[in-house]
Amino acid sequence: MTAVRPVRLNRRASLTVGASLIGLHAPGTAYAVGESAAMNRQDHAPGTAPPHRPGLQVASRLRDLADARGIRIGAAVASRPLVAEPAYREILAREFSSVTCENVMKPSFLQPSQGRFDFQAADAIVAFATAHAMTIRGHTLVWHNQNPAWLERVAASGENASAALRDHITGVLTHYRNDGPVPVPAWDVVNEAITDTGALRDTLWARALGPGYLADLFRWANEADPDARLFYNDYGAEGMGRKADAVHALLRGLVQDGVPVHGVGLQMHVGIGARQSPSQPDLAANIARLRALGLEVHVTEMDVKLQTGTGTDDERLAEQAQVYADILGTCIEAGVTSFTFWGFTDAHSWIPGFTGKPDGALPFDTAYAPKPAYHALTRVLAGG
Ligand code: XIL
Repeated sequence: MTAVRPVRLNRRASLTVGASLIGLHAPGTAYAVGESAAMNRQDHAPGTAPPHRPGLQVASRLRDLADARGIRIGAAVASRPLVAEPAYREILAREFSSVTCENVMKPSFLQPSQGRFDFQAADAIVAFATAHAMTIRGHTLVWHNQNPAWLERVAASGENASAALRDHITGVLTHYRNDGPVPVPAWDVVNEAITDTGALRDTLWARALGPGYLADLFRWANEADPDARLFYNDYGAEGMGRKADAVHALLRGLVQDGVPVHGVGLQMHVGIGARQSPSQPDLAANIARLRALGLEVHVTEMDVKLQTGTGTDDERLAEQAQVYADILGTCIEAGVTSFTFWGFTDAHSWIPGFTGKPDGALPFDTAYAPKPAYHALTRVLAGG
């Protein structure tokens, strides 16, 4: 296959934004967002600045169509474009009814040094969501990536590791308690704790706390906020297979033991091309068996890579639209209650940085125009 350079794909831009404090105004709110050096390091680099096209109209908003189907439709949100780009704010508020912080609720941001919590950037996103009647999915309390150096040191030392992790969970969920001023209704308690072959992943936490540690995480979270809905989140466990079997077995065990776990997040980082996304029957069967445990199922991070396929740009975009439509349709049928994309515009997608290749994995292009995928998603939500 010859290398094709699709015209609408995202370029990795070298543009960097320095630490700044910029006022962000949403209806009914006035607040500022600080961008820390850590955020600039770990948040992806922005794409080229899109032109703001206030006249851009679409027939029906995703969120209105989703409301009618009784499902939340969400996007992961990055702090920088939310502050800097009016078009980003406008489309986010218009199209989506749920928000996930792409980075700023991870431990390296929320507790940069031991005992010093910094909720500023995350609270700015929560305030935007609240001002626009969107719900929030908290992501993520425990993971093996994006931990502050002090927490990694504590985990590696083994001493007080469990107390440090519990304090983190308690500090975060106390701030975001559902009976408090900044409620976050649902949380990914732990992210990616199972390997691709279905074993318990050998992480800093598994080493420090022992193989039974997952149950404790959910119990600590439930104690800190009994009203929060608590999720296990992972990738590559969407269809049937070894990893999905292991995730199902893990959750079955937790439920049987009375551990307060309420749902499963299926990340859904997929692509076009053969075997790059789960088959519809496999996905439906997996969702059904998870729901049979009494669990809620959310799709938490969907994007559809173009680089895994072949064909002209138009063919790839059409295939991408089909993958989005097939998966959303199957998920709605199977009873998924929340469906989130990992971003919404190709101007700000983690995929080029992660894969090292240009791509265009999201439903809006780099200029914030809706792609065939967007229109396919609206058709599915409209029931057609
Ligand atoms: C990614 C972010 O998109 C990047 O900006 C960051 O540099 C690394 O993390 N699975 C997850 C997300 O659960 O937290 C990851 O987010 C993408 C893969």
